Amino acid sequence: MAVLDTAVLARDDRMPLALTVNGRPVRIEAEPRTHLADLLRDTLDLTGTHLGCEHGVCGACTVLLDGEPARACLTFAGACEGAAVTTIEGLDDDVIATELRAAFNREHALQCGYCTPGMLIAARDLVLRLPEADERRIRVGLAGNLCRCTGYAGIVRAVRAVIAERRARGIPTRTPGADVPRGLGPVGARTGTATVAPTPLPAAAPAEGPAATIVIAKDFRPAHTFAQSFDVAHPPDAVFALLGDVEAVAACLPGAVLTGSPRPDAVEGALRVRIGPIAARFAGRARIEHDAPARAGRILGAGGDAGGRSATEGEIRYRVEAGERAGTARVVLSVGYTLKGPLAQFGRPGLVRDLAGRLTAEFARNLEARLSGVAPAAPADLHPIRLMLGLLLDPLRRRLAAWRASRP
Ligand code: FES
Ligand code: FES
Repeated sequence: MAVLDTAVLARDDRMPLALTVNGRPVRIEAEPRTHLADLLRDTLDLTGTHLGCEHGVCGACTVLLDGEPARACLTFAGACEGAAVTTIEGLDDDVIATELRAAFNREHALQCGYCTPGMLIAARDLVLRLPEADERRIRVGLAGNLCRCTGYAGIVRAVRAVIAERRARGIPTRTPGADVPRGLGPVGARTGTATVAPTPLPAAAPAEGPAATIVIAKDFRPAHTFAQSFDVAHPPDAVFALLGDVEAVAACLPGAVLTGSPRPDAVEGALRVRIGPIAARFAGRARIEHDAPARAGRILGAGGDAGGRSATEGEIRYRVEAGERAGTARVVLSVGYTLKGPLAQFGRPGLVRDLAGRLTAEFARNLEARLSGVAPAAPADLHPIRLMLGLLLDPLRRRLAAWRASRP
């Protein structure tokens, strides 16, 4: 098979990349910030992969990474080393895609066609997985692909028809990518070449379950960092003391549960994160450092999801300062994280910052309630529409505030 060597401009920050695109081995160079959709469209001329929101919301950019649907707009090209990428062009001769295209035509499941490549790839995955033509499961399965034209009825009919016909012909379900060996990294990536040697948590109590295999990297260097702060109407010493109580902190953090007996310097637990239909439960371990004289601390943790295919490492540094008003405190957080695996598609800094901002706001409310002797409120899931609106509106709010501040 011929290897496609793509000529690129010489740029110091480009990284070499070898992957398979639509069955052809490709060697290419990409800047670290280049996402897979730009690489496919701009460098490989595979313009069937469409870009709509570039925030992971509309699904127009859906491609297959090692047989599984993935958002190309949220997947860094550099994280796809070794992956097999299939775009809509690569499904020209695919039997299921052919049946779906015919059904889409028959059922008037497209108008402008902008969503159609991503929709077909998502639908093909449903045809492979769903045992029967269940309309509710099809609608849930396609919830990550938005169509501005059709009202979805024709799309759902087309997918139902293909599933029903295939099952009637005795064709069973199949798990896509089941024959592909899995490793850490975005769907399809082979990132087993990490340069940082992981070090087990020193002198930790023996662990069982998923957390037993979690290690925390020595000299962890996060891929992304951001800062947060919040005010609490209680004295700094009281706030700092509560932050040193691991069980109290876990009770205030939405989605967090402890899975072992915490020690002052180490904890084992799980964090459930849910954004609308996207849900993950990370189990892991953390090392805790307290600097009482400085009223500061550091939590360094590593975790993986239940399937072991997404992994994260993160560091939270915190400092408790005196607030603007006497008897109040300001908690200043500096957060660094690295997210690998399928969920890295949703690890785009703006999205994570927004999610962390909402988690921090809820944590602050619960902390305040606990310090006041009130039971913390039950955690609420984050609705994807609110999240998207937040992402769209926050920059506008910031610009408006800057404009107001610049007026004489
Ligand atoms: Fe909308 Fe990727 S462009 S999800
Ligand atoms: Fe126009 Fe779906 S057919 S967006």
